[in-house]
Amino acid sequence: MSPALLEVENLCVQFRTEEGLVRAVDQVCLRIQAGETLALVGESGCGKTVTSLAIMGLVPQPPGEITSGQIRFEGRELLRDRRNMRRVRGRQIAMIFQDPMSALNPFLTIGQQLTEPMRYHLGFSSSQARRRAVELLEQVGVPDPRRRLSYYPHQLSGGQRQRVMIAMALSCQPKLLIADEPTTALDVTVQAQILALLAQLQQKRGLAILLITHDLGVVATLAHRVAVMYAGRMVEQAPVERIFRTPLHPYTHALLGAVPRVDGVPAGRLATIGGEPPHLAQLPPGCAFHPRCPWAQESCRRQRPELEWVQADHARACPVDWRRQLTSAPHNPEPNR
Ligand SMILES: Nc1ncnc2c1ncn2[C@@H]1O[C@H](COP(=O)(O)OP(=O)(O)OP(=O)(O)O)[C@@H](O)[C@H]1O
Ligand SMILES: [Mg+2]
Repeated sequence: MSPALLEVENLCVQFRTEEGLVRAVDQVCLRIQAGETLALVGESGCGKTVTSLAIMGLVPQPPGEITSGQIRFEGRELLRDRRNMRRVRGRQIAMIFQDPMSALNPFLTIGQQLTEPMRYHLGFSSSQARRRAVELLEQVGVPDPRRRLSYYPHQLSGGQRQRVMIAMALSCQPKLLIADEPTTALDVTVQAQILALLAQLQQKRGLAILLITHDLGVVATLAHRVAVMYAGRMVEQAPVERIFRTPLHPYTHALLGAVPRVDGVPAGRLATIGGEPPHLAQLPPGCAFHPRCPWAQESCRRQRPELEWVQADHARACPVDWRRQLTSAPHNPEPNR
């Protein structure tokens, strides 16, 4: 296997809150190769954004704390090497944030915010950077881009702000793009345009993408592999085809199982599953999913399953052979591929 562009090993991030210690990310491992898209999916609050903030060195500390783990980019440690992190962040690894407003500075114009990183990281002159900024805004579908450069973020619609942030993230030609719900505020046409742009950058420049989304159509369009998180932990990782066809964790099955499919392509958002995800400060003993799992056994209530590689490219954290009983679980129909 070729060396990964990004390697995350046993990453643990916790927050001290009034309700107790929240283990937002617990022993998470993932790898992304150049030119690859890894989709990170799971219900709200399972730790997707915190994982990506840790990769960017942006976990708010305090209340957050990275208690253990390694994050390597091109083989070099980021977590314990602040200089390397500063060199890489924004240039080699860029992020599209889930909330565009919090990522844009309300006091600076779009033009200032778009050109500054290109001048700092790429040594562009201001006119070079402005020209490139106009090109980037055009690529992400912002109308009348020259005029928009003098606007402040509040003068743009939510969808336009999101597109500006995508342009900012792409401005320094990163090797890895972390995209946290990149197309949620966008209408279908613009969404398709952005996804096509990302796919094109991937083909042309080998851009790697860590894609966080609730939209299965986006997963099916862009992802090569899928990583599934539940309550701060990784519960399954596999190539996208395998995840849709033969998920090996009951949680993945539940998340994808109820999805309508058109011509074999999954569509719509991730399914809603019965019961609530547990509070991360009060996890149940054993497997965190057992209270919602139709196949839970006695051992699941006691022992927390480790993530195991059952094939070279397929890992799961569930030792139960539940797929054999699939037909006898009426509320979780087999995906009708
Ligand atoms: N600054 C913070 N202080 C305290 N707890 C936090 C903080 N940031 C995140 N958390 C907790 O960490 C957990 C994981 O949050 P995270 O934002 O990563 O979820 P997510 O998977 O991105 O969810 P969503 O799909 O809603 O974006 C949550 O329980 C959240 O409450
Ligand atoms: Mg999030």
